Amino acid sequence: MEEHDNIALDIAVIGNPVLARKAEEIKNIDEKIIELAKRMLYTMYAAPGIGLAAPQVSQSKRLITVDISVGKNKSDLFILINPEIIHKEGQDIMEEGCLSVPGVREPVSRPFQAVIKGITLEGKEVNLEAEGLAARVFCHEIDHLNGKLFIDRLSPLKRSLIRKKFKKKN
Ligand code: NI
Repeated sequence: MEEHDNIALDIAVIGNPVLARKAEEIKNIDEKIIELAKRMLYTMYAAPGIGLAAPQVSQSKRLITVDISVGKNKSDLFILINPEIIHKEGQDIMEEGCLSVPGVREPVSRPFQAVIKGITLEGKEVNLEAEGLAARVFCHEIDHLNGKLFIDRLSPLKRSLIRKKFKKKN
């Protein structure tokens, strides 16, 4: 890791248009993408968070980092390019938050199990089976790539109250 990898990137907050945009597919895994992934990882751990999507650091690209162990368990770390949910099953309601919606936690319904397809930084296509919290985080981060925040999955009333709160602050 080079020295400048160790600087946390600024996190875009609700109201920033980058969070509402559909992120672009990544066609080439070049130096810039690898650098972005490393810096996202650093930013996620520094926050600390268990998942981060590139639009949250103002890069409208289909790249996510996920680690439900927050750096404790290497096998929980995933960096995925162009991730997609190819199968989902069951339902689970759990309180959720997001680094881009600071201070808000609300119960959100998500699939209990999900199969996610994506490409690793080494260019290898993978299928991952995730369950519980891991499935939730993948779904949450992939939502970000489609311009969706977790509050978009709440009731219209709750969502508009939260949006109003942030409009006042900014
Ligand atoms: Ni989020």
